[in-house]
Amino acid sequence: MPPSDPLGTPGRRAFHHQPVLLREVMELLAPASGQLILDGTLGGGGHSEAMLRAGARVVGLDQDEEALAHAMQRLREFGDQFCAMHGNFRDFPRILSESGVGPVDAILLDLGVSSYQLDEPTRGFSFQKDGPLDARMNPRVGVSAADLVNTASAEELERIFREYGEEPRAHRYAQAVVKERNQQPIHTTLRLASIIEKCAGHSGGKRHPATRVFQALRMAVNDEMGALADVLRMAPKYLKPGGRLAIITFHSLEDRLVKQTLRHFSQPLLDRPEWPEPRPNPDFQLRLLTRRSIAPSEEEVRHNPRSRSARLRGAERLTSHVPY
Ligand SMILES: C[S@@+](CC[C@H](N)C(=O)[O-])C[C@H]1O[C@@H](n2cnc3c(N)ncnc32)[C@H](O)[C@@H]1O
Repeated sequence: MPPSDPLGTPGRRAFHHQPVLLREVMELLAPASGQLILDGTLGGGGHSEAMLRAGARVVGLDQDEEALAHAMQRLREFGDQFCAMHGNFRDFPRILSESGVGPVDAILLDLGVSSYQLDEPTRGFSFQKDGPLDARMNPRVGVSAADLVNTASAEELERIFREYGEEPRAHRYAQAVVKERNQQPIHTTLRLASIIEKCAGHSGGKRHPATRVFQALRMAVNDEMGALADVLRMAPKYLKPGGRLAIITFHSLEDRLVKQTLRHFSQPLLDRPEWPEPRPNPDFQLRLLTRRSIAPSEEEVRHNPRSRSARLRGAERLTSHVPY
């Protein structure tokens, strides 16, 4: 039996998630009394709690209502130093302005899903236990993984498996899924996992053959790359001068997008081969705080193996425009 949920939902696992790169995030953002911080991925509230203990006020956003309920419970001792809001971080300007919140001193994004989401079978993110094939962080919106698996074309499934899962057998797996769904629609996590396993021809090895497929479906149904592109485009404008942005990614595609976007915002001049000379960059408003991404220490990976692919990048809003 899983331990009972602190909110009392029968049969649910207790919420659990260990914040990754916590020390590094605290060093980068240096939260302090008098500051207002947006935690765009509240999750279990681990990063938020550390920032609240350092004296900052925190607005925590999550699109998962279960995460939100847990974090509100966990952080209730902080009273009105903490405020939780439901929504997608790609909508944060509207969500903040509806609550009368203006520019902030820091924004934290710790992307992906929490350990709770991954481990709770009813959420349909993983195939360790059987559950509905869902994988939405906000089950009230969008299409589920089952909808996608049962209706997308073989080409679309192949693209998703290849692009988001970096799955070398994307073509084969997409064909197998289409063949099986024609016999009977695929509604559960274990059925999909066994289709992939059968097609892969083995279940041994370090990783289950369906691991990348499940990751890919999760990224697709939650439009994770689209949401990240949106939030990155808007975040610098909502930082006070000198305000800081910290982003933790878990996937090379995400890290590349973060790296390229932060680099773009931190270049005073833009140059293209067809231009006679470099031109001022109208988006120039950040200074990079991390030339290279920061990875977790060996010790952290040993204690929390799920942190192994985490990468942290940060930038600071310029206090004034530097003359070109
Ligand atoms: C890795 S967990 C964050 C863990 C948190 N930092 C902690 O210390 O407990 C990511 C959380 O962000 C949420 N999330 C992911 N993408 C989101 C988005 N686009 N908008 C809002 N919340 C999102 C997920 O629901 C999940 O709860």
